[in-house]
Parts: sequence; C-alpha cells; structure tokens
Amino acid sequence: MQDYHEFLDEILMDEQAIEKRVSELGAQISKDYDGKNLLVVCLLRGGITFTADLLRHMSIDPEVDCMSLSSYGVGRYASSGNVRVNLDLRTNIEGRHVLLVEDIVDSGRTLAHVLNMLRTRDPASLRVCVLLDKKMRREVPVQVDYVGFDVPDKYVFGYGIDIDEHCRYLPFIATVDLKKYRKPE
Ligand code: IMP
Ligand code: MG
Repeated sequence: MQDYHEFLDEILMDEQAIEKRVSELGAQISKDYDGKNLLVVCLLRGGITFTADLLRHMSIDPEVDCMSLSSYGVGRYASSGNVRVNLDLRTNIEGRHVLLVEDIVDSGRTLAHVLNMLRTRDPASLRVCVLLDKKMRREVPVQVDYVGFDVPDKYVFGYGIDIDEHCRYLPFIATVDLKKYRKPE
C-alpha cells in the first residue's frame, strides 16, 4: 500500500475535533435514551472506530450488536445500492429501541436498505447516527437522526474509514487526492 502522505489532500477533522464532536453525540444520545434499554448496532467495518469511541462517551449502558453489509456491482468508490448482508444481528430487535451507527452516508442506498430490512422486525424505535454526511450526494431520502459532521463530495479516509481496505487506523479524517492515489495491486 502506498504511503498515505503521497495522496492525502487535506485533513478535514483532526483527532481533537473528532473527540469533541463524538463526546457531544454521546451526551445527546445518553440524554435521549435515558431510562430506555438501548441497542446500539455497529455497521461493520467502517463504523467500528466511531462506535467504540461513541460508547465510551455515553452515560447510559446500551447493549451492542453488529451487522456487516456490503454493496456490490458497479462503482469502485461509490455504492451501487445492491446491498448484501454478510453478517446479521444476533439480537431480536422486536420491541427494542435500536440506534444504527454508521461511518458515512453518501447516496443513502446502504442505509435505506438496512432500515427497510430492520423495520420489518418491528423495533420500538429505529434511529441512525452517522459520523459523516455527504448531503449533496444523496440519491435516496434517508432519515439521519444524529450527524457528526457534514463533509464535501470528496473521497475520505481515516478513523475507521478505508480506502481500498487501508488507512482505517489513522486518528484523523482526510480527503484523497485521486490524481496521486494508486490502487494497490
Ligand atoms: P451509500 O450507500 O452511497 O450511502 O454509501 C455508504 C457507504 O459507502 C459507507 O458506509 C461507506 O462504507 C462507503 N463510502 C461512501 N463514501 C465513502 C468515502 O468517502 N470513503 C470511504 N467509504 C465511503
Ligand atoms: Mg460503511
């Protein structure tokens, strides 16, 4: 894998900015779900870092489960909307308060698909928390209840978000200069 310094365009959010916003979201969610038995659902794999940090900023004690989705078909750096469930929940969500935690909403197709699927299971409530929102890219209307940051229409990486499965470890979120980026063999 190419050194990220070669293709990093701009750091959008550094570690401190992310920490501050995630702590605000954790406090807001704790307030909103006070007295309720919340189930946090981490969408793998991009949501791992965000979910882990968000949980540590909560003052409530939610249950946690994970789901893994992948979109397949055309589009290398955009989702096609054909969503496959690789790993489903183990928890029965009927009558439960569910909060989906996702790294980034772009076209909205991935979230729309998972929301439709989970609604059929009759949760008491179903909300969405995303770290990053690329609003101008929306193709499918989707309800997003908690947003970390709005981001421009650029490919981003870091803080759990990958570029070709790398750079998830970075503590900041940055944009890619696609002219300088070489896809790994
Ligand atoms: P959507 O279905 O178009 O909303 O795409 C959402 C998914 O696409 C996210 O969960 C990410 O996995 C991926 N994605 C969208 N934009 C980016 C990006 O800039 N960097 C990395 N992954 C992205
Ligand atoms: Mg994702």
